[in-house]
Amino acid sequence: MAKLLNLHRAARLVGVTRGALQKKIQDGELDAFDGMVSLDELHRAYPDAALEDNTVLEQVEQIKESAFGRRIMEHTLPDKEVLAARLHDLSKELVQTKTLLKHTQDMLSGISAMLDVWGKQPGERALAAATLQDWLHAQRMQTQPAADSASALMIRDSFLRVISAQVKVLPSGVDFFVEGNDTILEAALRAGIPLAYGCSSGSCGTCKARVLSGEVKQVRSHEYVMPSAQQALGYALMCSCTAVSDLVLEASVAQSPQDLPLQQLNGEVRAMDQPTDEVAVIHIKTPLRDRLRFLAGQRAVLTLGGSLAMEMPIASCPCEDRHLEFHVRRLPGNHFSDYVFNQLKAGDSVSIRGPGGDFVLDTHSSRPIIFIAFWTGFAPVKSLMEHAMALDQADSIHLLWIATNESGLYLPGLARAWADALDNFTYTPILVGGDLDATASRQENVALNQVGPVLASIATLLQSDIYIAGPSLIVSAMRKLLQDLGVQETRIFADYEG
Ligand code: FES
Repeated sequence: MAKLLNLHRAARLVGVTRGALQKKIQDGELDAFDGMVSLDELHRAYPDAALEDNTVLEQVEQIKESAFGRRIMEHTLPDKEVLAARLHDLSKELVQTKTLLKHTQDMLSGISAMLDVWGKQPGERALAAATLQDWLHAQRMQTQPAADSASALMIRDSFLRVISAQVKVLPSGVDFFVEGNDTILEAALRAGIPLAYGCSSGSCGTCKARVLSGEVKQVRSHEYVMPSAQQALGYALMCSCTAVSDLVLEASVAQSPQDLPLQQLNGEVRAMDQPTDEVAVIHIKTPLRDRLRFLAGQRAVLTLGGSLAMEMPIASCPCEDRHLEFHVRRLPGNHFSDYVFNQLKAGDSVSIRGPGGDFVLDTHSSRPIIFIAFWTGFAPVKSLMEHAMALDQADSIHLLWIATNESGLYLPGLARAWADALDNFTYTPILVGGDLDATASRQENVALNQVGPVLASIATLLQSDIYIAGPSLIVSAMRKLLQDLGVQETRIFADYEG
């Protein structure tokens, strides 16, 4: 029976996004059944994949040959017990396959012997038996294991199954991979899957999930004591266990902002950056046992100096654990902004209340994505962008970052780094001059004359999900322009600053 892979594993194997694979299926270039693809079919659609990108196999060679390779694998390999368990599973599969092969060979030998007997009998049957015997002999002579690219795909799949495990979460159906010694929670957050959790350090019990199939192993200590009834039902703490084998879990995943509770916690300013005169970047670390659970693109209210509060987009990704990042514009006369630029320093404590807002990714969509960020509207877009990269679902991502001058594009290195690292990402910086907070007619003019032509030149505009963030007037003007260009209202998502 042909080996079947789900889309996530298949995409990983041939080094493309899930979105690209889904598009091939929609275009009829790849046959799938019930969300599964056969290895043979995958090889037919991507005949050169294994030959062009042998990174994983090369990694194996590196282990053998160099100390550098050993260091890489020390970082990415799971611990010995997990590795041994996965090798054990693979060995079991190998033995089953060998048994089946032996049985098939015995069967063929039996048929061959019968044909020999029939071939010695008189009549037409002898002729047919001799013909069949010749054919069988020729087929057996041809059956040599071939080291072709299809075999290389199979080898890579086996290797990936040793160094990582796939986790499927029910009832949502989302899935992700656990690499190395990561806990299941770390791997989920890194993959952009918002599993329920609280402390992430084994004390609150919020991350417990039921293991429906597969095996987990504790790799971090925990204080939380699992009730024995839940232990018997197969519950485990996701922040302290890793996946030994592929898993199916029953766990809650936040699907929308309404699934997350309002939280209040205190954090500490770890660092302040001022990439340009106009913008300050605040890095906050939350306490070891108190994290903010949020979806990429959401907001939180920061309170500084005991009483100065402002609701702001969170610029970091939920996958960054205890790290929260906020981007603050210099607004002379605004008490909050003045405090950030003149008094806030590393070590200060801040209070955080959130999350709020619904400017989040439509994770069920595999449409191309266009992000349009005006000035510090880049903050929520950065969070969404990192989430989109983790989900690896969009076939193409285009970022338009618009500011009045160079200093408004305050993290250009980051946007360029994404462009360098991702094949499916395009970055277009746009300088428009003037004032982005000016009158509505000025905003409409900027949208229409300076951003409009760039948007109109994007071939996938009408098929895309479009996320816009920045000052209210310009975001409203942009929204209207997109509708005038024919973009469906339901595919436009907006975050209004101020
Ligand atoms: S998140 Fe608190 S115990 Fe896992």
